[in-house]
Amino acid sequence: MAVEYLRLSLTDRCNFNCIYCTPLEKKGYLEHDELLRHEEIARAAAAFVKAGVKKIRLTGGEPLLKKNIVGLAGMLKAIPGLKELALTTNGVLLPELARPLRAAGVDGVNISLNSLKKSTFKKITGSDSFDKVWAGLQAALKAGFKKVKLNVIIMRGINDGEIEDFARLSLKYPLSVRFIEFFPVNKRSTRLKDALFPTAELKARIEAAFGKLRPAGGKKIGGPVRRYKLKGAKGGIGFISGRSDYFCGSCTRVRMDCIGRVYPCLFSPPTHALRDLIRDGATDAQLARYIKKAFIVKSHYRKDSPTAGHIEMSSIGG
Ligand code: GTP
Ligand code: 5AD
Ligand code: SF4
Repeated sequence: MAVEYLRLSLTDRCNFNCIYCTPLEKKGYLEHDELLRHEEIARAAAAFVKAGVKKIRLTGGEPLLKKNIVGLAGMLKAIPGLKELALTTNGVLLPELARPLRAAGVDGVNISLNSLKKSTFKKITGSDSFDKVWAGLQAALKAGFKKVKLNVIIMRGINDGEIEDFARLSLKYPLSVRFIEFFPVNKRSTRLKDALFPTAELKARIEAAFGKLRPAGGKKIGGPVRRYKLKGAKGGIGFISGRSDYFCGSCTRVRMDCIGRVYPCLFSPPTHALRDLIRDGATDAQLARYIKKAFIVKSHYRKDSPTAGHIEMSSIGG
């Protein structure tokens, strides 16, 4: 499959400390000088777009912590040939940033939210900011984005009492509520591995409460989500089943982290560092050659490839 989607991690910093994500051993953050600067990110992104990428999703850490994120979004949106710019955020800075990001050309936002109860929210994120995230979600709905999605990871014994409450949000709001199967990727998330709540069980719970889920729009090209709708709903319900489903065959994604390393797959080691090439004065043609190489590695890579392994979601951005 041709690569058409780039996930760009802007920072390894995050203002939350989620139980399934942040590493147990705090290694400290990368130095400012190591991170790609706005111009370097835009140059690398433009090279990816030239090589065939049509959609860019900004991730982190928390991407809205990147300095002048609105300016950066505007620079990226201006890349000729880019069709869609989106981002995945914990939502806490959206009350202030939703409007300016939309004005800068961001087409869609995905917000990670795993509980609608303040105490459970704090248990999962280590943060008291449920109200801010909820206000951020409302701000995103009002700002006129083409798509607003909610990412929910249901963990047994932690937030599995809220499955119906999350599904109900799709009735009331024009929101895609997506249930993500948790994957144990680092030491911290591995400790939670028994909390996995499989998609089949989630679907059964939702259908018992609301009636049949109707398939909506089939399978999105290159995306892992399977989409459904409840009768009379304003929004949709999706399932991203990284454990019980296998979507590698239709994957069209690559990733670049905040220091410019390119990853052909979420579970692969990086192929090379674009930052060093850019800082060493590489020409556009040289950048294009390296990007093409990563695309070739991708065409042979799957999550069960022999070198697939340990990843830190907080620096690769999911
Ligand atoms: P859109 O389709 O653009 O909305 O993106 P998305 O839903 O893939 O992005 P988001 O950042 O909201 O990620 C949601 C979940 O999907 C996270 O848990 C990601 O780790 C997971 N995910 C995203 N891309 C991949 C992928 O290529 N492979 C696997 N296995 N999981 C992925
Ligand atoms: N398993 C599944 N999804 C994860 N995310 C972070 N860590 C994990 C994990 N171990 C999700 C976040 C966010 C997205 C970028 O990745 O909840 O929505
Ligand atoms: Fe793509 Fe790798 Fe995810 Fe499979 S595991 S869908 S190849 S990123």
